[in-house]
Amino acid sequence: MPATVILGAQWGDEGKGKLVDRMAEQATWVARFQGGNNAGHTVVLGEQVLKFHLLPSGITRKECHLVLGDGMVIDPWVLDKELTDWQASTGEDPRGDRLFISERSHIILPYHRYMDSLDTKIGTTGRGIGPTYADKINRIGLRFGDVAEVLGDDVWLTTTVDRMNASLDAAGSSDRVSMESMANDLQWIHETYTSSIGNTGLMLDNALKLGEHVILEGAQGCLLDIDQGTYPFVTSSVTSRGNASHGAGIHPGHVEDVVGITKAYITRVGHGAMPTELNDEVGEHMGTIGHEFGTTTGRPRRCGWFDAVVMRHAQRINGFTGLALTKLDVLGGLDELKICVAYELDGKEITELPSTASAIARCKPIYISMPGFPELPLSEWLAMALYANESRKGISVLPTAAQHYIAKLEAIVGVPCTSVGVGPDRDATIDCV
Ligand code: GDP
Ligand code: IMO
Ligand code: MG
Repeated sequence: MPATVILGAQWGDEGKGKLVDRMAEQATWVARFQGGNNAGHTVVLGEQVLKFHLLPSGITRKECHLVLGDGMVIDPWVLDKELTDWQASTGEDPRGDRLFISERSHIILPYHRYMDSLDTKIGTTGRGIGPTYADKINRIGLRFGDVAEVLGDDVWLTTTVDRMNASLDAAGSSDRVSMESMANDLQWIHETYTSSIGNTGLMLDNALKLGEHVILEGAQGCLLDIDQGTYPFVTSSVTSRGNASHGAGIHPGHVEDVVGITKAYITRVGHGAMPTELNDEVGEHMGTIGHEFGTTTGRPRRCGWFDAVVMRHAQRINGFTGLALTKLDVLGGLDELKICVAYELDGKEITELPSTASAIARCKPIYISMPGFPELPLSEWLAMALYANESRKGISVLPTAAQHYIAKLEAIVGVPCTSVGVGPDRDATIDCV
């Protein structure tokens, strides 16, 4: 079977964790291919709420092998905490058994976190992501596969610690790295992860050649992509389809389906313009009913109407073969639903996303309006989803206004919906038939 790519189509937090967990039932491998623990992916199994920052969301499926791929930046202490929590709740230590870390993935060290903590411009997650990718691009980063080679190398240690402290000093930080702590950190990383470090691209390629199904789990979203997002208010990796296979270490020919995940509205955490942002009671409704708080930092997410300009951009970059619409339930109870179909920029109507932050900030949304549908308790949405899937009636069980809203989004974006989320629970997803 080929690989399936699952990507956020907006500014992140679209519900990737939930969808990956669901689709991983049919997979034997789930791989992250970029980003790090700036991601926060939620999986809800009844009363149990699992939040993953580094572990692929397919960990919930015992038969799935898991890869932290070549294109990632990984904080070994955060990974250790996630593994400890996983082991405490399940008794399983998947390292080297079904969890593998790419020898090419880069390590987030305390220095990178110190540097990121100085950010005031972007509103980063402060997890050291940007500084680690900066070192990677500068070709001075440390990869998991390099650790064994630099252990005991005093010249490397001195040069690296001196460079880090000079950078911290120049950036105005009072934090410093010591030779002793760096040497200890390297020893600990080596001891903790040696059994799980490997050529993960080769593992995935072999699995695909054997006909196994691989899911490539994106982090962040298209509008946070370093090249195609709302630069400079973006993350530091390529979050899009073009990097899914590349960052996982396999060729693009393996990929067949590319699922773009989008909320039925839109959210954003951190700085940077969001043309459809609502600072009114509708935005509050979305934030409250949708529990829109960042999974990683707990910051409130800014909420707004569905933005088709953003989606068309995401579609052009990614060529989604299907859309997974999430959080439709959250719109229940709003009398009127708006969809932004174009922007007005400096008196002119435009339908494509401008490339500069200042132009995006000047864009005023042009809306079409549709009738809303009633609010329902989550238990009723869940029951509706179970019935829709059992009876194979799909989204025809939804209120008529909700069906019209979905049909309009499909028509505007030009991609069919493959599933519709109506609640956080794993089973609160309607498969489109
Ligand atoms: P990710 O980063 O894309 O994996 O998304 P997050 O986990 O950060 O944020 C999505 C949030 O929405 C989580 O709290 C999910 O449990 C929740 N969620 C996902 N799908 C749905 C849905 O269809 N309806 C509702 N109400 N919540 C959802
Ligand atoms: P998931 O995978 C939402 C945002 C940050 C900030 C910008 C840069 O859960 O969808 P960074 O720490 O990456 O340098 O921050 O990107 N950001 C996210 N927003 N969801 C995410 O991941 C995000 N990862 C980074 O808020 O605006
Ligand atoms: Mg998230």
